[in-house]
Amino acid sequence: MCGIVGFVGDKNAVEPVLCGLRNLEYRGYDSAGVAFYDGSKIRNVKQAGRVAALENELVDIDIINTKTAIGHTRWATHGTPTKLNAHPHYNKDKTIFVVHNGIIENHQELRSMLEAKGYHFVSHTDTEVVPHLIDFYYQKTKDIEQAFTSAINDLSGAYAIVMMSEIEPNKIFAAKLSSPLAIGVGRKNNMVGSDASAVADAAEKIIYLEDYEIAVVEKNKYKIRNLKNKKAVSRDPEDILIEDARASKGSFEHFMLKEIHEAPKTIQNAILGRIKIETNEIKLGGLDSVANQLRNIDRIIIVSCGTSYIAGLVGEYLIEELAEIPVEVQLASEFKYRKEPYGPNTAILAISQSGETADTIAALKKVEPQGLLTLGIVNSPGSTISRMTKAGIYCHAGPEISVASTKAFTAQVTILVLLALSLGKNRSKLYKDLLVELASLPKTAEKILSLSPAIKEIAIRYSHHRDFMFIGRGYEYPVALEGSLKLKEISYIHAEAYAGGELKHGPLALIDENFPTLALASSPTLFDKTASNIQEIKARGGKTIVVTTKKQQKHFKTIADDLIIIPEVSDQLSPILEAIVVQLFSYFIAAEKGCDIDKPRNLAKSVTVE
Ligand code: F6R
Repeated sequence: MCGIVGFVGDKNAVEPVLCGLRNLEYRGYDSAGVAFYDGSKIRNVKQAGRVAALENELVDIDIINTKTAIGHTRWATHGTPTKLNAHPHYNKDKTIFVVHNGIIENHQELRSMLEAKGYHFVSHTDTEVVPHLIDFYYQKTKDIEQAFTSAINDLSGAYAIVMMSEIEPNKIFAAKLSSPLAIGVGRKNNMVGSDASAVADAAEKIIYLEDYEIAVVEKNKYKIRNLKNKKAVSRDPEDILIEDARASKGSFEHFMLKEIHEAPKTIQNAILGRIKIETNEIKLGGLDSVANQLRNIDRIIIVSCGTSYIAGLVGEYLIEELAEIPVEVQLASEFKYRKEPYGPNTAILAISQSGETADTIAALKKVEPQGLLTLGIVNSPGSTISRMTKAGIYCHAGPEISVASTKAFTAQVTILVLLALSLGKNRSKLYKDLLVELASLPKTAEKILSLSPAIKEIAIRYSHHRDFMFIGRGYEYPVALEGSLKLKEISYIHAEAYAGGELKHGPLALIDENFPTLALASSPTLFDKTASNIQEIKARGGKTIVVTTKKQQKHFKTIADDLIIIPEVSDQLSPILEAIVVQLFSYFIAAEKGCDIDKPRNLAKSVTVE
């Protein structure tokens, strides 16, 4: 989703801005642009499509003597993804340029006010009100910092806003509310950016701005002010914590395939240093500081979105079974609106790969006044959610570049197993066995990956279908949801997911010879029920692909159209392995259809607007 970069230094300001934009590409975007001061005026170059297209536009322009520059990658919210709607946006005489991430909820009202005063709009974005509004205040005060502040005070919604102007061309102005923004502190230059990766190339330290803060950033100094109490803010810069977001695809055709293949390493990294088989111990260092509070919790609410929400559903099964603590999983986007009672011992667990998902952040903010224990399972180090939660466990899955989440799910569920086992006060009977099994799971995951050719062959045969059903029961139900999300996301095939038991309560009506089903059926306890589902589907002419184990295959051999035989593991760990199967299945279908797998249409990696 939208990314922001800004640079003030001695020379060549555009280069680090482009570099920051490239580092932010993983978030997903549909257009890009920069504005830079060339010593006499601000120039503005924008392009629909990729940052590479923007760089092509810049090849014939002398950017060496640029000292201040701002840049943006846009993911359309208001207005189509065109060059016209790309950021930076500007005022009438092109002296004030603004980039923005988020949504300005009162933009319509501000636009009408400005139009009534003679301001003319050229784009369809909500952002364009900002440079005009700053201009409006500047005409009154002739003080650009004051004008920026007054404009920010008028905005409602969620925003990270960065502005440069010809009035004070060696300064960048920044403000944020509910959307991440940071100052990158360098030796001979300073930067602003949406996250650490945006500033990592030319800055050494980072200062994360808080809501209602305004920053003025110059080459060798910066100041931060709180908009509410108007006081100066002093905050020490932190080390920049990022893993190399410029990971390469290596020999893989897509990042998604590479990231699926990282599953064994991902499981290994998630358990590394956290389990000790010899002493039967689990050590989650990130939770040490809240150990006392954890002992008393009697209810956990998991809040998350998309794939992270589905990992949360597996977590619900795990924590309730292994730790005997009641759990609810709520879509973060819905949790915000619910009015429900919490006890003092309720804990909120946010799960997020990026740590920047706006809905999940909003869910955490909602419970701030209650002072509840907030925990995070986050992949991206130093991200907003990792900083907002009182304690947490990092996934250590490394940067996930493909928009469709794969290895993050693997890591999240692995960590949820560890969390569930460690929360169990009366150690679950399964504790020891699961710990031992977990230690060998990376090897088992390798066996799943070795099934790729067989999965590919089946996927290609089914790739012409327009609809798909995924079913599962118990721990395999969330995997069905994940399979259907992955398939629709990257192949644009309509997919549904149901708990097997629900099939005859409605969705069975959809089934015919053109609506195949992938059934997850490796559970040693629930296979017979799933076998009945397969029979029901078969009786309606539907084709079935059954994922099961060697031991269970006899139950499906004669009724399934295709079988994918996977190694046997405990029910509690099966989602980790079966997820790899549905990820590969979806990937091979999308590849066969020639889809843009790593950057599916309309989607962004980091969903930073609500
Ligand atoms: C699906 C996918 C999304 C994310 C969701 C939450 O493949 O990638 O559904 O899982 O946007 O993102 P995070 O985990 O970053 O909060």
